[in-house]
Amino acid sequence: MKKQEYIDIWIKAWLTPSQIEGVLKNVIWISKEELFTLKEISSKYIYEVHKAFYRLQTWEPEEYTLEKANFYGRDFFVDERVLIPRNDTEILVRQVLKKIHLDIDLKDMVYVDVGTWSACIPITVVLEMHPLKFERAFALDISQDALSVAKENIDSYAPDIIELRESNLLHGIFHEEKLQKKSLCVSANLPYIKKGDYKNMDMSVIKHEPDSALYWGEKTGFELYEELIKQLFQLKEIYKISQIHLFIEIGFDQYEYSKQYLEDLGLSFEYFNDSANIARVIYIHDF
Ligand SMILES: C[S@@+](CC[C@H](N)C(=O)[O-])C[C@H]1O[C@@H](n2cnc3c(N)ncnc32)[C@H](O)[C@@H]1O
Repeated sequence: MKKQEYIDIWIKAWLTPSQIEGVLKNVIWISKEELFTLKEISSKYIYEVHKAFYRLQTWEPEEYTLEKANFYGRDFFVDERVLIPRNDTEILVRQVLKKIHLDIDLKDMVYVDVGTWSACIPITVVLEMHPLKFERAFALDISQDALSVAKENIDSYAPDIIELRESNLLHGIFHEEKLQKKSLCVSANLPYIKKGDYKNMDMSVIKHEPDSALYWGEKTGFELYEELIKQLFQLKEIYKISQIHLFIEIGFDQYEYSKQYLEDLGLSFEYFNDSANIARVIYIHDF
């Protein structure tokens, strides 16, 4: 079938040129330049291409149809079992790199990413940190689906660097004797959307992305982070951890609540804003 005629049909069916280009490049496995000069689409690709286009028409995110999502300049494997990495989460990664890279001695530091899902955060942190290294690096998640997707990405990018574990928050490392007297860097982008708020989300998120990655808590959405902070205090006590640096991503409406909560605990912390100047990341230190 002639390429341009085929593209015109799908443009009339409300797909965008970039969606069409993404699918064609991915299915036929050609570059942007090769696609530009291609005249015909061979019938052997039509079934796969059609399938991908239909999925896009039902609001399915492009990343799922392509089975990849770009995060901090790298492509990560994703499918409908996991949340698509968000650009906003790059703010958290940037702050981990800035603070840990510049200000802190990595010797004796263990790094843990909690609620890792596709493992885009820990993989980016350890690769961008290279040649500096943490003493150990863990990626933890409670969900089996998340763990199998995270494994694919860790196997591709950082197989000997990151240890992947099933874990309810930090329980998976509670028996790590080697944490004794170490310092700890923890990143977490846990579910922080109040259960009742799901109706404010985009249709493609409601229909296709996993609820377990997004919604938690009835009152504030901050409840899982409160539990995480409690566990960090326990770990500090058990293993005489010397320092804890915690980086968390929060929702656009959690600034006031989180500030009051952290002040009440007497913790030191700072906020980082997104491009709309809304506080989205908290760096909590001097535990
Ligand atoms: C918003 S997704 C974040 C995914 C990934 N960190 C990112 O930024 O793209 C939240 C993740 O937290 C995980 N999660 C939820 N409750 C958890 C718990 N109690 N312990 C560990 N992980 C949890 C979910 O399975 C999901 O992978």
